[in-house]
Amino acid sequence: ASILVLNGPNLNLLGTREPGVYGVATLEQIVQTLREQAAASGHHLLNLQSNAEHELIERIHAARDEAIDFILINPAAFTHTSVAIRDALLAVSIPFIEVHLSNVHKREPFRHHSYFSDVAVGVICGLGARGYQLALDAAIHLIEQTEQ
Ligand code: DQA
Repeated sequence: ASILVLNGPNLNLLGTREPGVYGVATLEQIVQTLREQAAASGHHLLNLQSNAEHELIERIHAARDEAIDFILINPAAFTHTSVAIRDALLAVSIPFIEVHLSNVHKREPFRHHSYFSDVAVGVICGLGARGYQLALDAAIHLIEQTEQ
């Protein structure tokens, strides 16, 4: 199966960006681990990080034509603002898991609301880079369940 990993604004700076909050792993390191994890169970991982809302939306639209089975998304700050990315995910009706490195619920009140959580298969936050691996594990489990 094909799994698309999407990361929103400022996540290209992981490794140096507020390491106390977001950890020291770079996005490239995180994605490489996910690629290996997907390949180990015979799945294919695709990946896009963008600081632009429209690029994320266009990647989601293209995912439907490519028959992507599942999306893992850390919408970053767009979590708290983007009706448009939410609508794109609903439009293509590809199941997705929402991931955040930090525990958004123990941070500023404006991070407590997500435009994604009520339409996500599940949400993982506060577990750092490992959250992506846990999300991928869950996605693979769900994909293999529906394939049977
Ligand atoms: C984040 C949390 C968001 O509130 C923030 O804007 C980010 C990263 C996280 O992974 O913890 O950029 O999505």
